Amino acid sequence: MNSNGSEGNARSKFLVGIVAFVIIVGGIAYAFYGPQKHQGYAPDQPIPFSHQMHAGQFNIPCAYCHVSVEKSRHATVPAMNICMNCHRFVKTDSPHIKKLTQAYNDGKPIPWIKVHDLPEFTYFNHERHVAKGVSCTTCHGDVQNMAKIKQVAPLTMGWCVNCHRQPQYNAPTSCDTCHR
Ligand code: HEC
Ligand code: HEC
Ligand code: HEC
Ligand code: HEC
Ligand code: HEC
Repeated sequence: MNSNGSEGNARSKFLVGIVAFVIIVGGIAYAFYGPQKHQGYAPDQPIPFSHQMHAGQFNIPCAYCHVSVEKSRHATVPAMNICMNCHRFVKTDSPHIKKLTQAYNDGKPIPWIKVHDLPEFTYFNHERHVAKGVSCTTCHGDVQNMAKIKQVAPLTMGWCVNCHRQPQYNAPTSCDTCHR
């Protein structure tokens, strides 16, 4: 009786182990070799905001609009009062700026469509990367020449880990760095 019970127990533990192993290995293989999700994604935005014009031509620094990129996990999309610093006066006859002003006066945020979007079970932190001198361009491409924002990097696990492994970066590669 006794020996039978523990044998069954051992067998089911073994099976659970196999299942977990298959899920993890499958997940890793998929992350490295699976389809590259969303690379090239460039949705139309509710207002056609151009980085090429603002960040390129006018040379407005990234952090003027993405205010928390150097100090927090998130870069954040700019609050409308930042736009209104200029557009209270600039190009007020444009239908796009009229739409922006209307939303601002109504206190309704512009429903910008998120382009870069990691799955929830991952952890990413802007501040750490920016502090180590990894430039925006390395991960987001040549934003200053984009009339419309596009996801350039694959944002797969393989992409993250390949950079973390490079000796000049010496960044952590343990699973709990990015999965917490
Ligand atoms: C004048 C304000 C402004 C400046 C300057 C600016 N941005 Fe943006 N950025 C925005 C707005 C508004 C959005 C959301 C609309 C869009 O995606 O076009 C955005 C979106 C983005 C996104 C996509 C966010 C997502 O949804 O994944 C990235 C990446 C980005 N900006 C990078 C940069 C970089 C890099 C610079 C500097 C070279 C920069 N931005 C300069 C206003 C700005
Ligand atoms: C530092 C000043 C400044 C800031 C901040 C700024 N803009 Fe602009 N924006 C301009 C200038 C200058 C133009 C070009 C006007 C022209 O064509 O004469 C412009 C043009 C535009 C246009 C094109 C308008 C058209 O119909 O041609 C849009 C849309 C726009 N901005 C949206 C935004 C949004 C959204 C934000 C906030 C995320 C923002 N801008 C922040 C200065 C600014
Ligand atoms: C090491 C790669 C890397 C660097 C460097 C980097 N980003 Fe990002 N960025 C990402 C990833 C990954 C996401 C998606 C994050 C998510 O979905 O949680 C993202 C998202 C964003 C977003 C959308 C809002 C948010 O916080 O999710 C903006 C805006 C942005 N980045 C701007 C910038 C700017 C500006 C710089 C330079 C100062 C920069 N990024 C540097 C990888 C990077
Ligand atoms: C430097 C960051 C980073 C490290 C380190 C990392 N991962 Fe990931 N992992 C990611 C990102 C980002 C994704 C989501 C993108 C994707 O699916 O490719 C992901 C996805 C996964 C997935 C899901 C695959 C899928 O397709 O949904 C599994 C399983 C996984 N990781 C396991 C691990 C294990 C086990 C380790 C340690 C050996 C590890 N990861 C280390 C960033 C990382
Ligand atoms: C171009 C190189 C590069 C890419 C791409 C990159 N990283 Fe990093 N990562 C770094 C560097 C450099 C550090 C800083 C290490 C340090 O502070 O010593 C870092 C640090 C981190 C940290 C902070 C570790 C800690 O101890 O808090 C996390 C989390 C992280 N990266 C996640 C990611 C994820 C998730 C991705 C992919 C979506 C990614 N990284 C893509 C270079 C990169």
